[in-house]
Amino acid sequence: MQDAKRRVSNCFVALDDAGAIAGYFTLAASGIPVDELSDATKKRLPRYPLLPACLIGRLAVDRRFRGLGLGGALLMEAAIRASRAEPAVLAMIVDAKDEKAAAFYEHHGFSRFASRPKSLYLPLATALKAKG
Ligand SMILES: CC(C)(COP(=O)(O)OP(=O)(O)OC[C@H]1O[C@@H](n2cnc3c(N)ncnc32)[C@H](O)[C@@H]1OP(=O)(O)O)[C@@H](O)C(=O)NCCC(=O)NCCS
Repeated sequence: MQDAKRRVSNCFVALDDAGAIAGYFTLAASGIPVDELSDATKKRLPRYPLLPACLIGRLAVDRRFRGLGLGGALLMEAAIRASRAEPAVLAMIVDAKDEKAAAFYEHHGFSRFASRPKSLYLPLATALKAKG
């Protein structure tokens, strides 16, 4: 709430039928250094040193709801919200807290930064293509 008031990040929650929090994620404007992108992605982009990105600061699903597809749905919701921002956003980025979290993001198509393997990115165009 405090971060939202200060315009530092916004938090979005998924509620169960009783109104309890089943999962949540935070979103904030950020940037990705062009040198962290894969060669294939870089080839299609202008050589600006920093490209616009949206940071998923935290994302988690309550234990009772894990393994049901909610984590994937929250990621898709984040992509849709980022794509609706009026300033352009090229990609979502995350700093995974551990290797298990990094594997979750890779499973969803994220690629690792060239220099920091626990930071990952997913171009919004790719995320939204998966939605169909
Ligand atoms: C990681 C987390 C968000 C996954 O949420 P979830 O609701 O259980 O995940 P889903 O049910 O949506 O899984 C979707 C897909 O991801 C896969 N997946 C889930 N966790 C995975 C992992 N650690 N590594 C690889 N794949 C994973 C599932 O097998 C599933 O695959 P499918 O769509 O092909 O069947 C949840 O386990 C969690 O809250 N963990 C603690 C917090 C955390 O690690 N957050 C990461 C941010 S740092």
